[in-house]
Amino acid sequence: MNTDATQQDQSGGPATGWWTEAVIYQIYPRSFADSDGDGIGDLPGITARLGHLAELGVDAVWLSPFYPSPQADAGYDVADYRDVDPLFGRLEDADKLIAEARAKGLKVIVDLVPNHTSSAHTWFRAALAAGPGSPERARYVFRDGLGPDGDQPPNDWQSVFGGPAWTRVTDPDGRPGQWYLHLFDTGQPDLNWDNPEVQTEFLDVLRFWLDRGVDGFRVDVAHGLIKQADLANWQEPQEILSGNEVEKPRPPMWDQDAVHEIYREWRRVLDSYDGERILVAEAWVEPAERLARYVRPDEMHQAFNFEYLLASWTAPAQYAVITRSLEATDGVGAPTTWVLSNHDVVRHASRLGLTIGGGRPNGIGIGDQQPEAALGLRRARAATLLMLALPGSAYLYQGEELGLPEHTTLPDEARQDPTWERSGHTQRGRDGCRVPIPWEADAPSYGFGPTDASWLPQPPLWAEYALDRQRGVAGSTYEMYRTALRLRREHGLARGPLEWLSSGDEVLAFRNRALTVLANFGDTAVPPPVGELLHSSAPLDADGRVPTDVTVWVRA
Ligand code: GLC
Repeated sequence: MNTDATQQDQSGGPATGWWTEAVIYQIYPRSFADSDGDGIGDLPGITARLGHLAELGVDAVWLSPFYPSPQADAGYDVADYRDVDPLFGRLEDADKLIAEARAKGLKVIVDLVPNHTSSAHTWFRAALAAGPGSPERARYVFRDGLGPDGDQPPNDWQSVFGGPAWTRVTDPDGRPGQWYLHLFDTGQPDLNWDNPEVQTEFLDVLRFWLDRGVDGFRVDVAHGLIKQADLANWQEPQEILSGNEVEKPRPPMWDQDAVHEIYREWRRVLDSYDGERILVAEAWVEPAERLARYVRPDEMHQAFNFEYLLASWTAPAQYAVITRSLEATDGVGAPTTWVLSNHDVVRHASRLGLTIGGGRPNGIGIGDQQPEAALGLRRARAATLLMLALPGSAYLYQGEELGLPEHTTLPDEARQDPTWERSGHTQRGRDGCRVPIPWEADAPSYGFGPTDASWLPQPPLWAEYALDRQRGVAGSTYEMYRTALRLRREHGLARGPLEWLSSGDEVLAFRNRALTVLANFGDTAVPPPVGELLHSSAPLDADGRVPTDVTVWVRA
């Protein structure tokens, strides 16, 4: 058993491991770096670029899925949990990546997708072949259809990507058969987590990657594994999370209490390994108190704070979400986490340049309201400096350190997110935040790979965001991130505590250890806090005041 004293305190005191202070950088493997020029990023590409992450100053990387997959949902449809898709390399490449990351002082977190497999998984193929009532079908959620011919789905649930959450299968004898549940794409059948075989299989998958040396797992759709037993009708369209802050009745497919037992068992497995291996919940659950249940001392270590990601850029909204988030996680002794962008949402450099208030658009395309680029970047930089001064752990999404915007004019023909088709072309989906990132302004595919190939087209404006245009350039977004990460570490900002100095309608200010942090949301410039200006998201004005949409860090 692990005797490391820095594990989360089982008696309810605050946790203190590496992960409580970490800045964790999300790599979306298909879009980070392409070593072989096929237009899709890969593991050797990532390994070759780890130096960038060490220089940036993050503590850990989280890799989105790289497992064998038909790529119906960009790899979140896993056909084999113990291998690497040839698109991304081989298992040895994963080992090499883990070893090189460790040599550079970076932890590695991999993605685990337990809610569903791919329809190409051997289990699902066996379920189709074996027919109704078989133990093979009992690993998934198969039901007879309604109506005299069984041609109506078993209930009214909708898929997150649009359309019904059920698909009817053809039986081995060629006749229409039962229906299977898929909360996401048809290529992602939901597993039946009441089945002990499913539970055992995932304990084994955890061990497989722990034995290979990973430092943790980001758990996909962690709130979805258990469904209400009666599969009651719900009658609501499905969304990952809308940003709606009012409390609603809990849907029968999300956040069921029994899900916590699964994570308690997983936690026991992780704790039996040396080091501090962590579980991170991707759980689109509101309110914050409900989310905090996932990070109780004997469950997961962290959960993504999507309420923070979704909060509007106003002083009252930011104050409310920061306060609520800290209170909720403090209540269970877990670190609060902060996140502004990921592979499922419009990048914050664009989201904050939209004039619409609240919620979030599911993608932006030609014909949609276009973000104001300069305003979006200015606010994104201010939001980032606000976030990186907060106590807890923070998540960054690849490219945000370059100030990268969403690709908001991606041709619809190029779209690959199943959301676009399944929503009947009403929701553009997530491709705009997944475009391969620019490293060198003048190289083919902006340095993403050795050729011009890129699985999603890169816009011409990528050149100005390229790393080589920003590295060593004072005031660039990249250098702003580097400085912030260095100061965050030097001043122990992750440890807090946070003490509010001002929480009005225009200005937020707080103290965190030696620093006073001020963010100006108002229309007029304000004086900075007294002391030495250490960092700011944009220059002060000619009178030495903090302009609108600027955050400053001052040493008192
Ligand atoms: C999570 C992933 C998302 C994926 C979905 C289904 O929300 O972040 O990209 O489409 O789960 O696996």
